[in-house]
Amino acid sequence: MASRTVCLWFLFMIITEVVGENTQSIIMSLTPDSKYQCVNTTCLPFISFITSNIRNCQIVCLTQSHCRAATFHRSTSNCELFGDMLNQNENMLTDVDATTMNIISGTRFQPEWTTTGNMSIGRYWHTASTLVNESVLVVGGSGNGGYLNSAELYNPLTGTWTTTGNMSTVRYIHTASVLANGSVLVTGGQNSVGDLDNAELYNPSTGTWTTTGNMNVLRAAHTASILANGSVLVAGGHNGTSYLDSAELYNPSTGTWITAGSMSFARAWHTASTLANGLVLFTGGDNSIGYLNSAELYNPSTGTWTTTGNMSIARYVHTASTLANGEVLVVGGSGNGGCLNSAELYNPLTGTWTTTGNMSVARCYHTESTLSHGSVLVTGGYNGASFLNSAELYHPSTGTWTTTRSMNVARELHTASTLVNGEVLLTGGSNNGGYLNSAELY
Ligand SMILES: *[C@@H]1O[C@H](CO)[C@@H](O)[C@H](O)[C@H]1NC(C)=O
Ligand SMILES: *[C@@H]1O[C@H](CO)[C@@H](O)[C@H](O)[C@H]1NC(C)=O
Ligand SMILES: *[C@@H]1O[C@H](CO)[C@@H](O)[C@H](O)[C@H]1NC(C)=O
Ligand SMILES: *[C@@H]1O[C@H](CO)[C@@H](O)[C@H](O)[C@H]1NC(C)=O
Ligand SMILES: *[C@@H]1O[C@H](CO)[C@@H](O)[C@H](O)[C@H]1NC(C)=O
Ligand SMILES: *[C@@H]1O[C@H](CO)[C@@H](O)[C@H](O)[C@H]1NC(C)=O
Ligand SMILES: *[C@@H]1O[C@H](CO)[C@@H](O)[C@H](O)[C@H]1NC(C)=O
Ligand SMILES: *[C@@H]1O[C@H](CO)[C@@H](O)[C@H](O)[C@H]1NC(C)=O
Ligand SMILES: *[C@@H]1O[C@H](CO)[C@@H](O)[C@H](O)[C@H]1NC(C)=O
Repeated sequence: MASRTVCLWFLFMIITEVVGENTQSIIMSLTPDSKYQCVNTTCLPFISFITSNIRNCQIVCLTQSHCRAATFHRSTSNCELFGDMLNQNENMLTDVDATTMNIISGTRFQPEWTTTGNMSIGRYWHTASTLVNESVLVVGGSGNGGYLNSAELYNPLTGTWTTTGNMSTVRYIHTASVLANGSVLVTGGQNSVGDLDNAELYNPSTGTWTTTGNMNVLRAAHTASILANGSVLVAGGHNGTSYLDSAELYNPSTGTWITAGSMSFARAWHTASTLANGLVLFTGGDNSIGYLNSAELYNPSTGTWTTTGNMSIARYVHTASTLANGEVLVVGGSGNGGCLNSAELYNPLTGTWTTTGNMSVARCYHTESTLSHGSVLVTGGYNGASFLNSAELYHPSTGTWTTTRSMNVARELHTASTLVNGEVLLTGGSNNGGYLNSAELY
């Protein structure tokens, strides 16, 4: 017992020494008596808060992946965190009350997963949408009571959930899209009756749902993409008897749907990504012939579909995200050999794919989120044998993956939402313990 106490005491000494170094700012480069000379809103801090000392200000910056620099004001104890400040470091104002600190590459703390409030109910195959006021709306899915019509709101400022209005219909494998006016459009999906053609709108200011026009066909496992003019393009999916190649457009001002041509291939469990040039890229998926390696583009200005380069591997239940450089990163999913560890990049300028680094494990039913500093966070999923609690980061500049801290809970078929403060909120999903009501933040 005595020797254990001594060990703990030594450990405490080591931690204090490391924190002590932070106080001397060995792990951030210091510009004393200076602050940024902000000439426009692009250089405002992304967050400011009061904290007791400069060390806490540094630690918060080092743990937030999108923090590049911090300024601590001694008289007010105000800590300001800045994102990309590259152009501002030659543009400082003298201020004897302020110390400005820049991140030194490689010294950032590994971000932790922190547990946050639980949802009222365990659910998977639900949707999560970040609302204009920063709250996250979780809708439907499947849970212990069967398919769900319920919805709940996560408030990132308090870390708590409140239930909000119920949809008129229980559903899972539906879509949810935040419209330009802040309402959320939920379309289709499936329940015990079969696939659905109905759609409903959530109004965040009243917390209530109203039904809107029905789609022309039943759809589940489809995609929904917001176009630059505010219309919503839904495409593909299945209708209970067939895989669909059809697409349709929702006009938010009339609440009605019109058909929008057909893809070259019917596909469900595919991805849809909006490119910088306004085109929408559709990749992979599943149909009655098998898993798909094909990809196609929708052009909103002409209303036409064209095929583009094929991926090297056929995959469905994969994920895709658009990177800051305009490329689209497709990750994992399931193919002919089961769950996949591979990833590929689509170049919109050439219309071609290149394979990039492999993840450390194969993943299906995972999530993919672009972080504010450009890396891509992939979480959890299933590898064909186990539910995963691991997470990894893709670095576009090197084309490589690094593992990051594991989540507190293994989860597949969960959601990942990027919050306004840059954190990523994971909700629900399932593992061999059943449906999850828990949520965690990265
Ligand atoms: C704001 O200032 C930064 C740094 O001086 C500059 O790079 C950027 O172009 C400016 N943005 C606008 C909108 O003026
Ligand atoms: C959240 O739910 C999990 C079980 O899903 C439970 O272990 C945990 O104690 C709950 N946390 C809170 C704060 O209620
Ligand atoms: C929402 O539906 C659930 C059952 O699905 C029910 O228990 C709950 O009372 C309903 N809430 C409201 C506000 O109607
Ligand atoms: C966003 O709006 C909803 C509905 O009005 C409200 O319940 C929630 O607290 C708001 N969230 C924030 C972060 O203010
Ligand atoms: C599903 O779509 C196919 C092809 O469009 C159509 O023939 C069939 O009737 C549809 N089934 C249902 C249940 O709507
Ligand atoms: C947004 O637009 C839809 C469709 O026109 C409308 O039904 C809804 O009430 C609007 N929402 C808000 C918050 O104004
Ligand atoms: C938005 O764009 C789509 C696709 O080009 C078009 O069909 C639709 O009419 C447009 N909607 C509005 C409201 O202009
Ligand atoms: C892409 O793959 C599809 C079948 O999956 C095939 O029909 C098509 O010819 C391929 N296209 C190219 C450019 O290789
Ligand atoms: C990626 O993994 C696949 C098998 O899943 C393997 O065939 C391929 O050689 C790997 N690529 C690299 C660059 O390691």
